[in-house]
Amino acid sequence: MKLAVLISGNGTNLQALIDASRRPGFGASLEVVVCDKPDAFGLERAVSAGIPTEVIGWTSERNASTERLLEILDQYDVEALVLAGFMRILGPAAISRFPNRIINIHPSLLPDFPGYDAIGAALAEGVETTGVTVHFVDEEVDHGPIIAQRTVAVAPDETRESLASRIHEVEHELLPSVVSDFANGRLRPIEPLAT
Ligand code: GRF
Repeated sequence: MKLAVLISGNGTNLQALIDASRRPGFGASLEVVVCDKPDAFGLERAVSAGIPTEVIGWTSERNASTERLLEILDQYDVEALVLAGFMRILGPAAISRFPNRIINIHPSLLPDFPGYDAIGAALAEGVETTGVTVHFVDEEVDHGPIIAQRTVAVAPDETRESLASRIHEVEHELLPSVVSDFANGRLRPIEPLAT
């Protein structure tokens, strides 16, 4: 399965996908990495891995930006998208072009703590358990059929850095595994974990 990975930043999840895609049986190839920030470190990861990169100027005209994205994706003939830290909201044209074919990873147990700072929000709320969600993207933000979730316990003396680091470790294992299952036709959406 031909994939595009969309990023905005450091790209550690992209790196996990790159590493997994080199193993036999992964079932998908990373055809292009698209980024809305020209100086994102994730772009260097893609270049080092020999994956084509595209920087897309994203404006408040979401639908026009989405059309430009779809044109790029057409050039690479991609069949599905992975949002790995892409900090933009796709317009409806992308969702209808790739129904249940856009996978997002989010650092909370959705539907809890959607939005920009999910780790900070979980800490501020004082929850004992948070986690990671991988889901298909629909037209709402951090919403859509849930594919997989993993819990992460919040320690009493937790800092933002320590929690983020444990969440990232879980992400780096979960996302490649879900993407591989998806590419190999082994996925079923699940109900959210009760928290
Ligand atoms: C991850 O925590 C992901 O859940 C969120 O954005 C972060 C991206 O991190 N959507 P990285 O760029 O993959 O390191």
